Order: sequence, then C-alpha cells, then structure tokens
Amino acid sequence: MIREEIQKSIAKAIHLHFGKIDIPDFSVEVPENPEHGDYSTNAALLLAKQLKKSPLEIASAIAEELRTKNLELRTAVVPPGFINFWVSEKFLLKSLGNMLKEPETWGQIKIGRGKTVVVEYSSPNIAKPLGVHHLRSTIIGQAIINLLRAAGFKAVSLSFPGDWGTQFGLLIAAYKQWGNPEKIKQHPIDEMLNLYVRYSQAAKEDPRLLDEGRREFKKLEEGDPENHKLWKWFLDESLRDFEKVYRLLGVKIEHTIGESFYEPELKNIIQNALDRGLAQRGEDDSVVVPIPGSDTPEIIQKSDGATIYTTRELAAIRHRIKEWKADQILYVAANQQPFHLEQVFRSAELLGYAHAGQLKHVKFGMMLGSEGKKFATREGKLIPLLEVLNEAISRSRAVVEQLNPDLPEEKKAEVAKTVGIGAVKYFDLSHNRLSDIIFDWESMLNLQGASAPYLQYTHARLKSILRKVKADQRETVRGLTRMSGAPLDEMEHRLLTAVLRLPEVVEDALKDYTPNALANYLYGLAQLANEFYHSHPVMQEKDQIKRDLRAVLVAGVVLTLSKGLAMLGIEAPEEM
Ligand code: ARG
Repeated sequence: MIREEIQKSIAKAIHLHFGKIDIPDFSVEVPENPEHGDYSTNAALLLAKQLKKSPLEIASAIAEELRTKNLELRTAVVPPGFINFWVSEKFLLKSLGNMLKEPETWGQIKIGRGKTVVVEYSSPNIAKPLGVHHLRSTIIGQAIINLLRAAGFKAVSLSFPGDWGTQFGLLIAAYKQWGNPEKIKQHPIDEMLNLYVRYSQAAKEDPRLLDEGRREFKKLEEGDPENHKLWKWFLDESLRDFEKVYRLLGVKIEHTIGESFYEPELKNIIQNALDRGLAQRGEDDSVVVPIPGSDTPEIIQKSDGATIYTTRELAAIRHRIKEWKADQILYVAANQQPFHLEQVFRSAELLGYAHAGQLKHVKFGMMLGSEGKKFATREGKLIPLLEVLNEAISRSRAVVEQLNPDLPEEKKAEVAKTVGIGAVKYFDLSHNRLSDIIFDWESMLNLQGASAPYLQYTHARLKSILRKVKADQRETVRGLTRMSGAPLDEMEHRLLTAVLRLPEVVEDALKDYTPNALANYLYGLAQLANEFYHSHPVMQEKDQIKRDLRAVLVAGVVLTLSKGLAMLGIEAPEEM
C-alpha cells in the first residue's frame, strides 16, 4: 500500500533528523484538490509544539530526509507546514502491471491474518416477516464479512434467529384452535402472523387465552412431542421463506443458530453465575447480575423461574468464542436497543465469557419510507421485502431497456435482476450506517448519480472498450513495467493513483466498519473514469504507446470496480 509506505518513510525521516522522539499520530491523506499531491501529511504541524520549531522548518527537514526506495516520491513543502507527495510514474506503472498480473488478489490486504471475527447479522424473528431492519442488517453484515475476508481475517457468518420465547406458545395455542396446515404451507409467514395477531387480539378480551399460551410454551420447553413438532414445522417454514430473500440477495450465511439452540445450557449458566458469586438470587426466584456503575442489574432469570432473552445471548457468546476461537464478535443490529446489547456485553465480561472490547455492536439507523415515514403501506402494514426487491428488479428493467434496447430478452431479465438488487444494496451501503435513510427509488436507480446502475454501467462500458481493443494485455503489461520516464498526463496520473488506492480503502472501511467508505470511493473512481473516457479516446488514438497505456488503465479501472463492487456484494455485469 502506497499510503503505508509513505507513513513509514515519514516516521523514519523524523527519527533520522530529530532523534528518538515520540511521533504523534499524524495522517497521510488524499488531498481534496489534486494539485496538492497524490497524498499529503500534517506530520510537521503536529510536531511543531513538541520540537519548538516552525512547522515549515520541520516539514522541510522531513522532506529532505525522506528516502523511499521504490516510490521515488516527489515532495513539496507548503505553508503552514504540509508536505505533499507525488508518486513517480515508474512506480505507478509497475504497480498497475503487478495488479493486472495477479487480478485475483487485487484489493486484498493482510491486516487480518491469523485473526477470527464472528459476524452476527440478519437474525430475523421466526413466524414474522423480515423487517427493513433485517434487510439492512443482512446487506451491511454481508459487506462487512466480505471486507473482513479481503483483509485476511477468518470471518464466520452467523444468523441468530429469534425462535424461542412465550410468543411461540401463543402461536401454538392459536394454531390448535384455528390452524389450517394447507394455508401455512402456501403462505407460511403470512398465515403464522395472522394466527398470532388474531390470538393476541382475542387474548385482550379473554386473558385466559394468555395463560393457555404460556402453558403451551411451558409444554414446549418440557419437550412435549406435539408442541415440539409444531414449533419445528413453523421454524422450518419460516427459514425456507427467509432463504428466498437471501437467495435473491445473493447472501450466504454459513451458520444459522437460533435462540432455542441454547435452551439446554441456560440453567447451567445461571447456576454457575450464582456459584461464583457473580449473580444474586432475589426474594422471589429471580436472578440478577449486578453491573458496577449501572443502576440496572441484568436479569438472567425471571421470578417465575423462566430464562429470558439475555440468558440466551450470554450462552451464545460463550459458545461462539469457544467454537470459533473468535477474537471478536460483531453484532450487526439496529440502533433501537443499544442498551440491551450493552448490558449483555457487560454481563458477559463480568461472567468471564468475553474480555472488554471483544464484543461490538455495529449499529445502523432506520430505513424510512417516502417522506420519512415508517416503512409501511398506507394502511400501516409492513411491506414484504420480497415485494420491494421484486419492484427494484422490475424498475431496473426500464433502465436496461433505455440503455440497451438491443440486448436479447433473456439477457435483459438477467441484467435487470443484477441492477435491481445492486441498486438496493448500494443505496443502503453508500450511506453512513448510523444515519437514518429514506428509501428513494429515484436516487437508487439514478444513472447520473451515486448508484449501483451508474457504477455497473461505467464498468460495462469500459469493459466493452477492452473487448474492442483486444490488446494483448500480457504484452502491454510487460511493456508497461519497462516503460520509464513520464508517459502519463495529469488525468491519467490521477486515475491511476485512484485505482491503486483500493487496498487502502479496504483498510479504512474496516476501521469502524463503514462500508460507505468503499461505496463512495468507487463512485469517485467511476466519475474520474468517465471524465477520462470522454477526454482520452482509446480506440481512436493513433499513437500505439498511448493507446496501449490507456487500454491497461481501463483494465485497471475495470478490475478495481468489479472487485470493489463484489466486496459490497454487488455484481458487475459484462454488458448492459
Ligand atoms: N432478532 C432480533 C430482531 O429481529 C435481532 C437480534 C439482534 N441480535 C442480538 N444478538 N440481539 O429484532
């Protein structure tokens, strides 16, 4: 990575000139204005106080001392004390050659080597439709998994469905009263939701129904075969339904381990916490873990002796860390209940299941419907996600029609699917995950703006140039690495440095799990590539060297776009 090399060289230069001093946490960034260099650092500004010298003087000293073997940096010191860097053409071209020689590994970095991260995401509730927050969790979670893998981590993907609790007793009771197996088979989730809602409503009139539901759950907990069979059936039907959405999204979750899995371990967790004096039994039968510095102790057993959600969360943490030797567990879950997870994490630390910092809530904001209202129909009903995704696909069909009416029918359908699903994902991932976002078809499918179709179209168009030039890329790449001097003009230089930044962006996107860093970078790269494409014709160029050079540059952009989009979980069609 170029940035890393610059960083190290600066640190070395500082030590060389100023001796063994403490080096502040300086940055090496890509300046907004390309005239200020490929990279720029504030190191001298940060050192001024400590060294009691003018930043300009320090900057000059560092620049003087800077030795970068192969980058062959050109530097400029500018007031009040920045150092700007330009990477040599020779190095840029050699790097391009290297990346095109090993396209498979382009964008991969090594910061995660030897480390394992478990990422819990999606985690829907059984017998209920997937909500928009599950869609966001699935999309963001999958992007984080992909990024982690690109960075060399072993990333374990995991969903933790809500498949246990009193609500299943109510559902069983409702089914026993009104259930129709055929209806469930046809529309499992809708029908289960109907039964549940109808029962809960009836229970408002007649509270005895609630007791009945609790009894059914108790029977389920005790292993009653009939109830267990029903519950398992509801579970399987639900998971099958969720799988349809995952398949459409192209998401693959390796492990689905729901809350129910932990049922057999819960008594042991509670007993163990009591035995070690970390939990206290209340006057009733409740058990709590007192949390130092918090007014709210964490309940792990209710007064009726029943276990709760938190107990299952704790068991899951213990299991995940043991099973996968996880260095870290990420919870890609909505912003709504930060307190719950915080308390769970603190309790897990107190019980010795995890150490501080090992558990992290990767929160995200809400996805709102038009006008910032709840994502629901006019009647206030949940909009089924499958419908939303299908609408994205059918709207993309019009986009494809507009771009390429001559595409064969079959291809059109295929591309529309890739564009539609890509559009939903990119829309989500291009926002900072903490922001609430308003679902908006216009910008999602905007061919002129930051959208998947724009990126996919740029990719496809550049790809078609490559097909046309049919340059023997190997030869060109070999030639490139021999080329020295400065055959690059300013635009080409900018485009190439942007291409080469992909690994740095992967690193940035993992610092605080912000896939939008990658999404925005790709948009910037595509914009630059489009500018280049208009001012730098490839095929019409008479000069052979220039033409070859532009062709490999285009190949570099194509590879970077497709790798970057793949990390976001978005496919880039060859043609569209
Ligand atoms: N099942 C929950 C829901 O659907 C999300 C679970 C989040 N993960 C967790 N470990 N609490 O809202």
